Amino acid sequence: MARVRTVFRCSECGATEPKWTGRCGSCEAWGTLSEEVDGPAGGGLEVTVSTTPPVPIAEVDPTEFSPRLTGVGELDRVLGGGLVPGSVTLLGGEPGIGKSTVLLQAASEVASSGRKVLYLSGEESPQQIRLRAERLGALRPRLWLAAETAIPQVIAAIDHVQPDLVVVDSIQTTVDPDLSSAPGSVGQVRACSHRLVQEAKRRGCPIVLVGHVTKDGSLAGPRVLEHVVDTVLAFEGDRHHALRLLRVVKHRFGSTQELGLFEMTESGLRGVPDPSGLFLADRRVGIPGSVVVPTIEGHRPLLVELQVLVAGSNLPSPRRSATGIDTGRLSLLLAVLEQRVGVRTSAVDVYALAVGGVKVVEPGVDLALGLAVVSSLSGWPVPGDVVACGEVGLGGELRQVAHTPRRLSEAARLGFRKAVVPVSAPDAPDGIEVIRVATLAEAVERLGIGVDRPPAPIGGLR
Ligand code: TYD
Ligand code: MG
Repeated sequence: MARVRTVFRCSECGATEPKWTGRCGSCEAWGTLSEEVDGPAGGGLEVTVSTTPPVPIAEVDPTEFSPRLTGVGELDRVLGGGLVPGSVTLLGGEPGIGKSTVLLQAASEVASSGRKVLYLSGEESPQQIRLRAERLGALRPRLWLAAETAIPQVIAAIDHVQPDLVVVDSIQTTVDPDLSSAPGSVGQVRACSHRLVQEAKRRGCPIVLVGHVTKDGSLAGPRVLEHVVDTVLAFEGDRHHALRLLRVVKHRFGSTQELGLFEMTESGLRGVPDPSGLFLADRRVGIPGSVVVPTIEGHRPLLVELQVLVAGSNLPSPRRSATGIDTGRLSLLLAVLEQRVGVRTSAVDVYALAVGGVKVVEPGVDLALGLAVVSSLSGWPVPGDVVACGEVGLGGELRQVAHTPRRLSEAARLGFRKAVVPVSAPDAPDGIEVIRVATLAEAVERLGIGVDRPPAPIGGLR
């Protein structure tokens, strides 16, 4: 078979080069060339020609694309009721986080509901997948496996099985044999995903693509992918902890506010109905530097313990280490503490941690983090029944954050009795008393954890 001619097209200006170069000869942008089949702009991909005439909006049948449950509760919650026929969903996440596991479980649930599922894997052999399925109790007669990675064979496999759901694990191992670039390159990923999107739309069959992410947390190669697919899900978590978070980054058919929570167990992923309880299970009260913050993830309130440890440093620029907390916010808070509260941290190393492998990036954690730093420095613990939430401004002032009542209700439900909140916060729900403060300095004073108080019995660093 004659090889199809390919060119390298610049993603900035659309100019083509016959060979790959680091810099586009036309617009001189660096690193923007990727390979595609030679043809008209658009990559020479078949353009699907719509044969349906325009219809008045009110005559469009909305039920045609209603989602169908997968049977994995947390996944269905995040998708707003399941997968929409003909849709393409991208599941991104770091290697080893559990993408294949959750999709195999979903595939098995769908297959046990009488639908056919085709699981295509370029990462593992059918034998390996079968062994895993046995462990997960996911062996189903209607679940089909294939180890195909080339697009023509993938499509042939779909033709053979005629499935109601296709899982492609992963888009980075899928190749279009017409392109000479390596699997996983931008050109390959783009061409393959375009083909799969066309197949999904043509057959009305949902396809789920697995995508690996790079170290900085973005999907590898394919920013392009995010535009092509209907839904982008991100699977997150710390590999050393059991908790996994499933977030919606983009969703054409519903809200992006939902959050799914799973626990990785011996027998696969299990939904977590009470996440806050899980995070706080091993907490010990009375330790300086520990503060609980009620955060909101999507629509779900989560109580997370923040811990800070300060230690004398002899480094010229002392260490600031943050795990599960944004390093930039930690530095900003240390600057605010120094300038507005009079708490100096320039001679100490600061280690900050969100317990349980969870990432908290919202501004509502500022107050708790600031209090944890002061408490660790002074040695005075924040009382065990206190939570704190609020955003800290550069002037040391506190600002209210969204959904404060929901956060406080969750705190009350888990037995917390007091909440330190900004002055403007709404009234507290039953069972919890609010301590309204205007500034971070006032919060420190009201809790009696300041560094100007005589040293605590356990002692801290001044
Ligand atoms: P996997 O789904 O292969 O991750 P990904 O596809 O995102 O790369 O999950 C791999 C990890 O999950 C692996 O380290 C083992 C663990 N695991 C369990 O703890 N329990 C299980 O039942 C399964 C199937 C995997
Ligand atoms: Mg995998």
